[in-house]
Amino acid sequence: MDKLIIFDTTLRDGEQAPGATLNEREKIEIARELVALGVDVIEAGFPISSKGDFAAVKAIASSVKGAIICGLARAVTKDIDAAYQATKSAKGGARIHVFLATSKIHMQYKLKKAEDEILRLAAESVRYAKKYTSDIEFSPEDASRTEPDFLFKVVESVIAAGAKTVNIPDTVGYAYPQQYGDLIRAIKENVPNIDRAVISVHCHNDLGLAVANSLAAVRNGARQVECTINGIGERAGNASLEEIVMSVKTRRDIYPGVQTSIATRELYKASRLVSKLTGFVVAPNKAIVGANAFRHESGIHQDGVIKKRQTYEIIAPEDVGFTGTGLVLGKHSGKHAFIKRLEELGIKLSDAELSRSFEKFKDLADKKKTVYEEDIVSLIEDEINKPAQIWQLDSIAYSSGTNVTPQATVRLKYKGKITESTSAGDGPVDACYKAIEKLTKVKSKLLDYRIEAVTSGKDALGEVSVRVAADKRVATGRGSSTDIIEASAKAFLNAVNKLSVRPSKSEILHL
Ligand code: KIV
Ligand code: ZN
Repeated sequence: MDKLIIFDTTLRDGEQAPGATLNEREKIEIARELVALGVDVIEAGFPISSKGDFAAVKAIASSVKGAIICGLARAVTKDIDAAYQATKSAKGGARIHVFLATSKIHMQYKLKKAEDEILRLAAESVRYAKKYTSDIEFSPEDASRTEPDFLFKVVESVIAAGAKTVNIPDTVGYAYPQQYGDLIRAIKENVPNIDRAVISVHCHNDLGLAVANSLAAVRNGARQVECTINGIGERAGNASLEEIVMSVKTRRDIYPGVQTSIATRELYKASRLVSKLTGFVVAPNKAIVGANAFRHESGIHQDGVIKKRQTYEIIAPEDVGFTGTGLVLGKHSGKHAFIKRLEELGIKLSDAELSRSFEKFKDLADKKKTVYEEDIVSLIEDEINKPAQIWQLDSIAYSSGTNVTPQATVRLKYKGKITESTSAGDGPVDACYKAIEKLTKVKSKLLDYRIEAVTSGKDALGEVSVRVAADKRVATGRGSSTDIIEASAKAFLNAVNKLSVRPSKSEILHL
């Protein structure tokens, strides 16, 4: 087997996506899912960048077992010290990832340093990191726009200094597949000690080519790919993990012998989790994990799939953990059928959670004629995976319309008691958020609000995702209901509940 190492950077480059702030607890939850997925390396953060990032990387290193935990560092000693301190307790091994720009434009304008100095700093930083660990990765930042001869020299000298992985970033997403593949081949042919290191690639998606470029690199000898769940990341994002993994798996003819350790059946779950916690909704047409990725609308396609699935499906939906969109349960379904369906969906609940979610399912089945698997997943996420429920939504009533001032009355349960408030607003959602603010006294700012239908049809569940800021902290919230104002209230309250919990040190943003 020719192993392709999957280096996940959802928690570092992914979290650099504008608006994708995650707190420590959320990062640990994602790291655990990445281990379940089978990624080899988790880049957990950039420890020197903030106290919060340092604490989160440290918490992941000490509590998440099953993958190498990596910390990013610039080529300076204080960054390398911080990366080591944050990752040193990792049971599955710690990696220090040092980067330094090597392209002319970065060296001249950003770093104001000449080639010789860059070469010296690159090698020195790797030698310095070596006193901590032998697992050192070096990235010549903006490698794809670096003069090839200089790039070869840098790569050779960092390997000589002790780097075990050399990562070739396409930092600004400028590369083209053929050209980038040729660059990887040229590195193999022109760097004399290249056999002593793994060639890694790290592609950004500014031209929509991050996955294509990464795959071209794999064809030319790269054996580590850096990627993120759902392709989230700086600007237009990074190469998407699920697309890389499924391409290599589906087109074995193009990557003979190349294999990853990814448990592909976890892909859909990992995608949902990252989407839920970052508040970044996955586009329905997103390859592999989009809601439409396995839906067939045209009659000709449906007919073909019924006769032979492979006529229009190159991947079996269950191979990525997507269990289909069929009618699963209705209002006459009993608890036994519900439990069985949850088992099939890979959802494990405690007895108390099961009773609560079954009740919620019955309520939903009363309102909605057909209950789909996506509805059940959304309901469980909404009702079970929520943080400490300091404030609970008891009921909501609102009025709105043309020439009517929108108004909402919200009743919340707090420490067993019901409190109620009425507010007017610019619309029913605004009125309802103002009423919640009056009751909870959490003064917050709504940064983002999104709504999407979980399934199709007039009675579809509406799923609302919000990002809310208060006191230098940001929290995301999700809520679903057949009533979109109620879904909006639940999502907002979900975020407010997170903000009401006393913050751990790492949750305070150090911007
Ligand atoms: O895009 C980039 O160049 C990076 C490096 C730090 C690897 O993220
Ligand atoms: Zn990057």
